[in-house]
Amino acid sequence: MKHCAARLTNAVFFSLLIWTFLCLAATENINVESIPRRPSVALCNETQLLWEMEVCGEEFKRKMDHVDPQNWCNLTHFISEYHLFSLCTETNAERINCYWPNPLVESYIIRIHKHFFSNCTLERVILVDPPDDTLTILILIPVFLTLAMIALVVWCSKRSDILA
Ligand SMILES: *[C@@H]1O[C@H](CO)[C@@H](O)[C@H](O)[C@H]1NC(C)=O
Ligand SMILES: *[C@@H]1O[C@H](CO)[C@@H](O)[C@H](O)[C@H]1NC(C)=O
Ligand SMILES: *[C@@H]1O[C@H](CO)[C@@H](O)[C@H](O)[C@H]1NC(C)=O
Repeated sequence: MKHCAARLTNAVFFSLLIWTFLCLAATENINVESIPRRPSVALCNETQLLWEMEVCGEEFKRKMDHVDPQNWCNLTHFISEYHLFSLCTETNAERINCYWPNPLVESYIIRIHKHFFSNCTLERVILVDPPDDTLTILILIPVFLTLAMIALVVWCSKRSDILA
C-alpha cells in the first residue's frame, strides 16, 4: 500500500513536470507557426489519416517482433524504433495536411501503447539509465513526453476505477 502511494506520488509529480513542458512547447509552436497558417483542419481526410497511422503502426509492430517481450518495458531496447514510429506518424499526418498531434493520432498511439506497454509501470518505463549520448537524450525527450501523457491517461483511468 505504501509502495502504491509512492508510485502515485511519483506519477503525479512526473505528470505535472511533463504538462509544464508541454505547455512551454505549445507556446513555442504557436509563436513559430503563427506566420503562415496551414490549410484548415477540414482538409484533413481522416480515413486517409487512419490508414497512414496503420502503416506506421504495422512497421513499429514488425520491429517490436524482434524485441524480446521481456524487454518491452525497457526503453533502451526500442527507443530508436519508437522514435521512428513517432516521426512516421508526424510526417505522414503533415504530408496529408492533418495536424499532428490530433485526437485521431493520439487514440491510435494509445492503442499501440496498450498493446505493448500495458504491463509496464511508470517507473519501469521511465527510470531507465539514459545512455551517455546526446542524440539519444534528444530522442528521449519527446518519447518521455508521449509516454508520460499515456501514463497519465492510464493513471487517471485506474484512479477512476478505484474511486468508482
Ligand atoms: C479520403 O481518403 C480515402 C482513401 O484515400 C478516399 O477514398 C476518400 O474519397 C477521401 N475522402 C475525401 C472526402 O477526400
Ligand atoms: C535495459 O536493457 C539494457 C541493455 O540490455 C540493460 O543494460 C539494462 O539493465 C536494462 N534495464 C532494465 C531496467 O532492465
Ligand atoms: C500482460 O500480462 C498479461 C497477464 O500476465 C498477459 O496475458 C499479457 O499478454 C501481457 N501483455 C503484454 C503486452 O505483455
